Amino acid sequence: MQGSKPRTSRFASVRGKKRIGILTAGGDCPGLNAGIRAIAKTAILNYDMEVIGIKDGFLGLIENRFSHISYEDVSGILTLGGTFIGASNKANPFRHPDFRGRFKDVSNMAVENYRAMELDGLVCIGGDGSLNIAYKLYKKGIDLVGVPKTIDRDLKQTDATIGFDSALITATQAIDKLHTTAQSHHRVMIIEVMGRYAGWLALYSGLAGGGDIILLPEIPYNIKKVCEVVLERNQRGKRFSIVVVSEGARPKAGKMVVKRIVKDSTDPVRLGGIGDKIADDIEKITGLETRVTVLGHLQRGGEPSPFDRILATRFGVASCELVAKGDFGKVVTLKAGNIRAVDLAKAVKDIKRVSLKDPIIKTALSVGTSFGT
Ligand code: F6P
Repeated sequence: MQGSKPRTSRFASVRGKKRIGILTAGGDCPGLNAGIRAIAKTAILNYDMEVIGIKDGFLGLIENRFSHISYEDVSGILTLGGTFIGASNKANPFRHPDFRGRFKDVSNMAVENYRAMELDGLVCIGGDGSLNIAYKLYKKGIDLVGVPKTIDRDLKQTDATIGFDSALITATQAIDKLHTTAQSHHRVMIIEVMGRYAGWLALYSGLAGGGDIILLPEIPYNIKKVCEVVLERNQRGKRFSIVVVSEGARPKAGKMVVKRIVKDSTDPVRLGGIGDKIADDIEKITGLETRVTVLGHLQRGGEPSPFDRILATRFGVASCELVAKGDFGKVVTLKAGNIRAVDLAKAVKDIKRVSLKDPIIKTALSVGTSFGT
């Protein structure tokens, strides 16, 4: 099953046209519609294929919910946030709750539904959890190609994921706005950004927005050091500080703060709340007035940036070409500016976290940014 040996179409000879399926799995982000548009337009214009949109990610595959996508359906959606075919960041065919809430493996049903849809290939746009599920479905016989999307940018094998750049712009603009009010009121402003177990969004937005302190999951912080930086800035006449905190940040010898457990989710842990803890600590230790902003799902909303529109279009075209060739079990990636197909098995092995040797860390340190150590 694995490998790049092209599989031949089961249905095209009967129907005369190949049929490609698309699903958007996991949390949404800006650029998904741009990706769907690129896959559908490439399929229709270049390969005369039929296009099927599976509703609400893997849930649609489990429940056999889908609809045909026409050229008109994808015309005018390039700049639209979200995904018009819906997404689910809980649905998992290998762990699906029955009416009593007991989890069952319904992956055989997902494969049967895939077959019943008479698809010649499926493009699964997803993040780390969803591409893991996609890989397992591929091993069960679904002819599948992956497209990486996530605002967390935590996928190995690719330099970029759809959604990260747009979320970065949102976070950076928020930091810019916090700067002015922080200055007026001589306050410490904490901004908590998403990213789960990887600090990319905090690191990049912190650097772009001139955050004085950036706290990442990968670099456990020392609250005394954080306070020293804040107080030292005050003594220098900078009577405000901006602290950019990743939701997965944690103190040395401390734990990540969990906001809620979503029981029926593949990764049930939802992080959140570390910003409040840090604010309390800073106020207690320094006596300086501190406020917290949790950016939350704003980071997943709105229109995609030009970079994300182009990335999603390139990924979409490349994934459709792989389906047309029958080259499955792959994920399209961006490496040094070029699109490459990588084995799904390799891409989902583990997540990409910020390395202490990352050149962006070095750059931030050079301009005096503190990581709270
Ligand atoms: O993986 C994307 C992401 O937005 C994370 O950054 C965040 O931790 C999580 O999803 C939030 O999930 P939910 O939409 O279930 O609150």
